Amino acid sequence: MGYPKISSLLFIHFHSHFHPMLSSSVGIITGGCSGLGRSAALRILRSGGSAVLADLPSQSHLADPLIEEFGAAKCAFSPTDVTSEEDVNRALDKAEDSGMGVVNVAVNCAGIATPSKVLGKRGVHDLELFANVLKVNTVGTFNVNRLSASRMSSLPPCPSGLRGVLINTASIAAYDGQVGQCAYAASKGAVVSMTLAMARDLAPTGIRCMTIAPGLFLTPLLEGLPEKVKEELGRQIPCPNKLGDPEDFGKMVEAIVTNPMLNGETIR
Ligand SMILES: NC(=O)c1ccc[n+]([C@@H]2O[C@H](COP(=O)([O-])OP(=O)(O)OC[C@H]3O[C@@H](n4cnc5c(N)ncnc54)[C@H](O)[C@@H]3O)[C@@H](O)[C@H]2O)c1
Repeated sequence: MGYPKISSLLFIHFHSHFHPMLSSSVGIITGGCSGLGRSAALRILRSGGSAVLADLPSQSHLADPLIEEFGAAKCAFSPTDVTSEEDVNRALDKAEDSGMGVVNVAVNCAGIATPSKVLGKRGVHDLELFANVLKVNTVGTFNVNRLSASRMSSLPPCPSGLRGVLINTASIAAYDGQVGQCAYAASKGAVVSMTLAMARDLAPTGIRCMTIAPGLFLTPLLEGLPEKVKEELGRQIPCPNKLGDPEDFGKMVEAIVTNPMLNGETIR
């Protein structure tokens, strides 16, 4: 027995090169037309990978400049409600039919944050509103992951057995819900909790599952706020003392895709 010879160590190293590299990523990016999702898509596209932007039909005009810049063989828009099996399957088909290939990276950025207090000025919290936030953020994320994983399972594994990676977007609200965030906090807490269970379920298939729980990032979600409010929100963040740049979210997605040892964890 003893230690393996250096030559065999080199062999192992050579064959366990990270997979998938960003340049060979075929991504489905939900909410990919705006904010954090757009940043993740740009990161993949600029590295030479391809991306299907799966977002609501109303957002299609935001996809046009990216399709123009990177070409229809690398970037496509698929009108998608993440809660619909049919829509998500159509988006996954789009990657295959347009020649990008089978999706090996799924980035879940579609989300809504409709605020409401349990007992507010307008009365009791609407039950439909609560259920809808959970439907989009939690059920939608699960829907995209299960259907993406099913496609990924048909891919040949890399030498270390990996086939793909699922990346979710939770929020610090999963741990630190603010006033009016009951539904949102519950929906994101569920995303954090499903991460490890999903990673365990999919381990035999070589599919990783990771979640990012961002703090406050300057996306269209916040851009509409008055300048003063944005400054105040930024001031509340100790270090760095500013709102996050969506580009840094894209960098985190890259780190997760390219580091095969990240699995089953939420990065706050
Ligand atoms: N911006 C922040 O500070 C922040 C912080 C923590 C978590 N998040 C989370 O990050 C994710 C992205 O947020 P963002 O700031 O980029 O917001 P955003 O509003 O800029 O983008 C969200 C995108 O999701 C899409 N979307 C909404 N419902 C959908 C549905 N049913 N099907 C498909 N697409 C749908 C929207 O059309 C939009 O393009 C969300 O899940 C949000 O909760 C954001």
